[in-house]
Amino acid sequence: MRSSDIRSTFFDFFQRRDHRVVPSSPLIPSDPTVLLTNAGMNQFKPYFLGETTPDHPRLMTVQKCARTSDIENVGRTTRHSTFFEMLGNFSFGDYFKAEAISWAWELFTRHYNLDPGRIWVTVYLDDDEAERLWRGVGVPPERIQRLGMEDNYWSMGVPGPCGPSSELHYDRGPSFGREGGPAADGERYQELWNLVFMQNLRGEGSGKSGYPILGELPARNIDTGLGLDRLAAILQDVDTVCGTDLLAPTFRLVQEMAGRGYPGRDGGDDSTSFRIVAEHSRSIAFLIADGVMPARDGRGYVLRRLMRRAVRHARKLGIDDLSLPALTSSVIDNLGGTWPELTRQNDLIRQVVTAEEEGFERTLRQGSQILESAIGRATTAISGRTAFDLHDTYGFPIDLTVDAARSAGLMVDENEFAELLEEQRRQAQQANRGRKGDAVARQDTYRRITAEHGPSTFVGYSAATAETKILSLVGPGGTLRTATKGDEIELILTRTPFYAESGGQVGDTGTLRTSGAALQVVDTQLGLDGLHVHTVRVLDGEVRPGDDAEATVDADRRAATARSHSATHVLHAMLRRLLGDHAAQRGSRVEPGRLRFDFAHFSPVDTAPVQTLVNDYLLDDPAVRVWEATRAEAEKAGALALFGERYGDDVRIVDIGDASRELCGGTHVGHGSQAGPVHIVGESSIGTGLRRVEALTGADALRHYDHQRDLLRELAELLHVRPDQAPGRLRQRLETLAETQRHLETMRRAELDAHAERLMSQAEPLPGGRLVAALVPGLTSADLRTVATTILDRLPGGIVILGTESSGKAALVAATRQGVQARDLLTGAAREVGGGAGGKGPIANAGGRHPENLPKAIRTAARDARALLA
Ligand code: ALA
Repeated sequence: MRSSDIRSTFFDFFQRRDHRVVPSSPLIPSDPTVLLTNAGMNQFKPYFLGETTPDHPRLMTVQKCARTSDIENVGRTTRHSTFFEMLGNFSFGDYFKAEAISWAWELFTRHYNLDPGRIWVTVYLDDDEAERLWRGVGVPPERIQRLGMEDNYWSMGVPGPCGPSSELHYDRGPSFGREGGPAADGERYQELWNLVFMQNLRGEGSGKSGYPILGELPARNIDTGLGLDRLAAILQDVDTVCGTDLLAPTFRLVQEMAGRGYPGRDGGDDSTSFRIVAEHSRSIAFLIADGVMPARDGRGYVLRRLMRRAVRHARKLGIDDLSLPALTSSVIDNLGGTWPELTRQNDLIRQVVTAEEEGFERTLRQGSQILESAIGRATTAISGRTAFDLHDTYGFPIDLTVDAARSAGLMVDENEFAELLEEQRRQAQQANRGRKGDAVARQDTYRRITAEHGPSTFVGYSAATAETKILSLVGPGGTLRTATKGDEIELILTRTPFYAESGGQVGDTGTLRTSGAALQVVDTQLGLDGLHVHTVRVLDGEVRPGDDAEATVDADRRAATARSHSATHVLHAMLRRLLGDHAAQRGSRVEPGRLRFDFAHFSPVDTAPVQTLVNDYLLDDPAVRVWEATRAEAEKAGALALFGERYGDDVRIVDIGDASRELCGGTHVGHGSQAGPVHIVGESSIGTGLRRVEALTGADALRHYDHQRDLLRELAELLHVRPDQAPGRLRQRLETLAETQRHLETMRRAELDAHAERLMSQAEPLPGGRLVAALVPGLTSADLRTVATTILDRLPGGIVILGTESSGKAALVAATRQGVQARDLLTGAAREVGGGAGGKGPIANAGGRHPENLPKAIRTAARDARALLA
């Protein structure tokens, strides 16, 4: 059965049981506490928590998932993947265990036709009900095992939904491992499908040691996850996920590039490398297609690590040429039909992997040099610190360092290395925990407020003021009963005209007035989806929940922000017009009077034509039209959606003229010309394949021009000309200046030559050559060097020792013939002036704090030189 048939069989089966299909969410989740989407249920977290209700209680998906928590297993086993497609059926307060279990059994045994005699199931320790249900469908008790929290309990986030689970496994036979069911051997009894009975809310703690259950969810739900590539491996009778039609073309390509076949499951490290290269290529392509870019931390680091791991293993296989471009392109060819984002981002993927692999090559070369020089210096061992730096800065894996050291007969202080690694991990964790602690407490408060009162009502699209009521006051520890003059707190309103920061646009500021208090709103953010949280300062009086209030947005600031937002849309459209459709938005920051716009592109952009195009477009005064539609209608109408942004089913669309149409929740000007002039102040690279444009808008652009004009006026005044004559006059002045400098240079040169002549005439003839040793006042140490080399050119084989006082310090130079270390001639002299000597080969310098001793120092150096020339 081909993987496309596996997908459609799943959907047909659950569609007949009234499930509606929902598209896969992107790999970059909207939930800020999660790095990468790792399960089908991620996008449904608010449904499980009861924060929002889905349109339909039964859903199904095929979800793109990325998991790197067990990356060390990937490739080593035949079944782990860092990217996979997860098929899932979901119930939100609708059906529960009985249906989930009997349907899973029916689908497996009657539709995928798996041999019932080879299916094993696991249930959570105390889940008698699940065991009874499995027995009921015909699973014999000896193939049902009970496992603990680590294996049979699923959760997402803290606080987050969780529940006991039950897994279906398939016995792949004795050649894969030992007897004894899933509890004994995960490689032989391969887990295929996880059914989670999502019913509780979890607290702080880890999956391994267990975590507290805080209570029950509002409803009992079902969340399931069936690994597509694992099931495909069974149904297509191949022994690794890399052999399935999902990965086979890429797997074959790896073998072609390596010039030899996959050695089979038992080939040890070599087999592992083949599997890693193929498997990681798929994750890399999917991550980039969803907007992840290689970086030093976060999800960008996950991607970078996958790329480096793939490249390292490719090199191990003897693939020395650039490998990722061809490998990812085979992934796109194979899966682009099912996942069109791969095809759409084809160019970007190729560019990113090429740049990254080339960069990694350079890093590896630098690392090798550092390693070689460390090996050169070491007598018995390479320090753990060097090994750690190689690992941390150059991505050099420790085993590579150990191998290289071992071949040179050296050890590596692996204990110190491990300590440093642990220290780094601990620091990162601590930083993380502190940040999370406060955020989690606040999220909890917001969640309670939303559960009680629902989301905020935003009235700010049409009005800048509103009569409203104060719903809650929030402090670090939870809600507050009152706040008084001087307090800075968070505040929730029943209805609000304040725009909360989102889609790159900054939050509104302004004022709040109640009968007893005056407050300043310094920022507005979304606490949760749909909950406007205002950061306020109480300027006067006292405020309590329930108070009526008059809210007023700072209208000038809002208007200046709207200009930037509309300008951003037009900039986006014009960049795509000039550079091509790949120049899509990757991020933006919309502020009063200024904007920052990040987009995909590979080389520097000439901003002059962009700026002209943007301003011309705005001067045409295009109408700004805001309309609403379903997501599907908007897509059909060609509206641009942003990577990673979450949009509901009903979306807001902003058109500016006919060239710009975007899904957007932001505030805009009424007509294009109101955005005012747009002045681009910068264009730069912000990472592989990513550029950033920064611009000023409206009054801020004008103020910028004023400032430029003032600078020009000042310049003109200094030059005593009119501004339009300033450049000509300045050029003239610079030419005169250069000429004067050249003239001075010649005079100086002649002066130094005269010094050299004079000193040469005083040279002392000795058997081995002539010696010049003298104090030359009034020269800099650079002059000294020039004079010394000039003399030596004319006194081949001789020695020149010169000294001078320069800026209150003693300076000495020694110049001699090739093969003599001039520094040795200055060692004694340097000591006299209280300093040291430096330099390699025939020229050396010395300096010291005691210029008064220079005559003595010259005598000392002359004595040493005479000994050499005697
Ligand atoms: N959420 C469950 C899992 O990913 C189904 O295993």
